[in-house]
Amino acid sequence: MTRAISLHDVSKVYSKGVRVVDRLSLDIAPGEFLVLLGPSGCGKSTILRMIAGLEEITSGELRLDGAYANGLVPSQRNMAMVFQNFALYPNMTGRGNIGFPLRVENPGEDPRPRVDATARMLGIEDLLDRFPSQLSGGERQRVAMGRAIARHPSAFLMDEPLSNLDAKLRNHLRAEITHLTRELGVTTVYVTHDQAEAMSLGDRVAVLRGGVLQQLGTPRSVYALPRNLFVAAFIGIPRINLLRGVVRAPLDGAMTISLGKQFLRLPEPLSLDHQLLRVQQGREIFVGLRSEAVRIAKPASARPGEVAITGLVEHVEFQGHEIFVHFNTGSRPAVVPELEAPRPARPVRRRRREGSVLERLRERAGALRAGPVAVLERPGDGSGADPVPPEGRLPGDLVVRTTPDIDLRRGMQVPLLVDLAHLFVFDQHGERICPAPARLPDLAE
Ligand SMILES: Nc1ncnc2c1ncn2[C@@H]1O[C@H](COP(=O)(O)OP(=O)(O)OP(=O)(O)O)[C@@H](O)[C@H]1O
Ligand SMILES: [Mg+2]
Repeated sequence: MTRAISLHDVSKVYSKGVRVVDRLSLDIAPGEFLVLLGPSGCGKSTILRMIAGLEEITSGELRLDGAYANGLVPSQRNMAMVFQNFALYPNMTGRGNIGFPLRVENPGEDPRPRVDATARMLGIEDLLDRFPSQLSGGERQRVAMGRAIARHPSAFLMDEPLSNLDAKLRNHLRAEITHLTRELGVTTVYVTHDQAEAMSLGDRVAVLRGGVLQQLGTPRSVYALPRNLFVAAFIGIPRINLLRGVVRAPLDGAMTISLGKQFLRLPEPLSLDHQLLRVQQGREIFVGLRSEAVRIAKPASARPGEVAITGLVEHVEFQGHEIFVHFNTGSRPAVVPELEAPRPARPVRRRRREGSVLERLRERAGALRAGPVAVLERPGDGSGADPVPPEGRLPGDLVVRTTPDIDLRRGMQVPLLVDLAHLFVFDQHGERICPAPARLPDLAE
């Protein structure tokens, strides 16, 4: 029997009042595959461990099939966990490992039929008589999955189960996990910091930042209508281009967004979403352009809704079937610092600060964690001429994806067309204002 898992206003405080999970509410339907996605330290494993009963819930409610479950011990929850560092018993064969929890749970019952059925499902029959030291990493992970599946749990809780494997095997096992969990119809909560993995596996994805839920939706909806700049920047490869701009909305002229030396002229008649930008007149905003919103083409070939800018080629990144071209358009790029470092130690906001009483109260309440996304400028004079990128970033302010047959070299000035139907605009706090926030992602699908 598979289960509905609900978290209502769930928080976790370890010590010193630090909330690592902050008032999280989630309803996971029976049989659903939900992915918890976020950068390191955002509380993903903690949430999973609270669902499993391995970690106490500080406040809020966990409900399993509608019944209050905060106090249930792990064995009463009948959930199976698969970890990144799966541990098989080295002195037992594959058969012994898969059968072990069955022997513990049902002493006196022969575990063989269930072990065999599970092995058949996973295609690992020929591994059953081998010891872990005689198995490759991927084979070991399959046996670990077998151990979880054989118990017929009511839910799978998977914590980055594939991150120790090489890319090819990871892709392969990803497909297997999708197939298997759908076939079994068992509710699955899957933790990862890899957005590509989240997008390919999840029925829905919950994006977390600093213990706070940022957005919950289908992979398609979080990509197409990210609620804020953090989600926009976290999801999608190559990463969305984020440029600082200023809205110019003169009463007697066309509305534009200036991007440093160039500007985007919004096509008339203004769409409803673009009309709503008028209130931002004179304000600095963040423009988000995914690579598919920009193409290399002359102004004469512009389609309705496309506007022309130019870019100076800074770097060409060969990907095989396509290339990523890094342009300098003379605008000021913005980056989300917490997404730059691969594994930041702790969110900046946890440092004790000399702020106002209000600020400290908000901090204690965890409010700031869901607050504005800090955005950095590229070091330089703001003219876009400075070629020094933030550490680890390639030069240029705009990445465009194209076919590898175009001969592009550093220093070439290239015409670009921006499709304004794919324009994202975020306000100074990082909240999306175009498309208008009222266009709820799930309704738009
Ligand atoms: N037992 C603990 N005591 C105190 N703090 C803890 C404890 N366990 C985790 N934390 C802190 O809670 C925060 C969330 O940790 P968690 O392991 O849930 O993150 P995560 O999202 O799973 O990260 P990763 O992707 O690196 O696994 C981190 O800042 C971590 O340092
Ligand atoms: Mg973790």
